[in-house]
Amino acid sequence: MYKILILPGDGIGPEVMGEVRRVIHWFTEKRGFSCVLEDDLVGGVSYDKHGVPVTDAAMAKALASDAVLFGAVGGPQWAKVSFDKRPEAALLRLRKDLELFANLRPALCFKPLVKASSLKPELVEGLDIMIVRELTGGVYFGEPRGIETLPDGTRRGVNTQVYATEEIRRVARVAFDLAGKRRGKVTSAEKSNVMESGLLWREEVQWVHDHEYPSIALDHMLADNCAMQLVRAPKQFDVIVTDNLFGDMLSDEAAMLTGSLGMLPSASLGAADKSGRAKAMYEPIHGSAPDIAGKGVANPIASILSFAMALRYSFNRGADADLLEQAVEKVLTDGIRTGDIMEPGATKVGTAGMGDAILQALTALSGK
Ligand code: IPM
Ligand code: MG
Repeated sequence: MYKILILPGDGIGPEVMGEVRRVIHWFTEKRGFSCVLEDDLVGGVSYDKHGVPVTDAAMAKALASDAVLFGAVGGPQWAKVSFDKRPEAALLRLRKDLELFANLRPALCFKPLVKASSLKPELVEGLDIMIVRELTGGVYFGEPRGIETLPDGTRRGVNTQVYATEEIRRVARVAFDLAGKRRGKVTSAEKSNVMESGLLWREEVQWVHDHEYPSIALDHMLADNCAMQLVRAPKQFDVIVTDNLFGDMLSDEAAMLTGSLGMLPSASLGAADKSGRAKAMYEPIHGSAPDIAGKGVANPIASILSFAMALRYSFNRGADADLLEQAVEKVLTDGIRTGDIMEPGATKVGTAGMGDAILQALTALSGK
């Protein structure tokens, strides 16, 4: 019996997570997936109620769960809140305290949505990249950090980019393992031409390759070149492994290539314990979209596909994950669209309508 914690968060988070609950229910009813669902507040709604973006009680639930399903956090009403209490701080605390060092961000171009990309269809058709972003180190967490006032009254802002051997090796292993199940190629991105931490990154990734994964192809690429190659010829990539900050940027870029920012899921994984279980959090790549929140028009697909990743990586139910992904693909092929991916001739639905369509497709595909 798995324990799942749902943290819907702010903006469109609660709406899209509502559809995820229906999907989970379907798998419970029809495929014998057994789980206990818990809920809590995160982000701005938690700040408003408790004065912190995530409470210790919610953290304790997260630590005790097999998977956290996260919606989205943030909104303009919390823009002036101090850094440590911002909605985003909850996300950073969850990542850090659960030790979710490997962030998997697939950039997949759904065939029916090829035309939604800003790139030429032939460049993105069939695109399937997996970005593995280091998530608990680097400049996001490095010390010293802060803003200090200098004697002359001007100020100085400091952040520190820092990586140690094991932080690099463990995320590199995740990338090589994934590549082994995909097309067998890893591209590691850093700035070894200007940063010592980048040089160490490159050397440690090479070390893991040479000692543990000699049969996987490994390329090193400077991160700026990688950004350029992603729009020039994105299909050259299979798995990209990179640090926290470059991963933040390259994954947004890669997601946009697919034309489906509102469609892409992500998984953040920790190390497996003795029983083979790893802590994990799943969330859509898109944010809280305050402009459309509460209107019932948000696209729930990224959150639903995040649950598919949970089925695959946390619950060892690859066939169910495939089924759910096929159901999404079928709905898109059938021309059902939320507003963000609408095109002429398609049928426009809202959040719940998309949920209905996916449930119907699940039933049709599974014969249940
Ligand atoms: C992401 C987001 C976060 C990040 C923000 C919301 C803190 O951009 O998950 O990519 O920078 O990691
Ligand atoms: Mg980001």
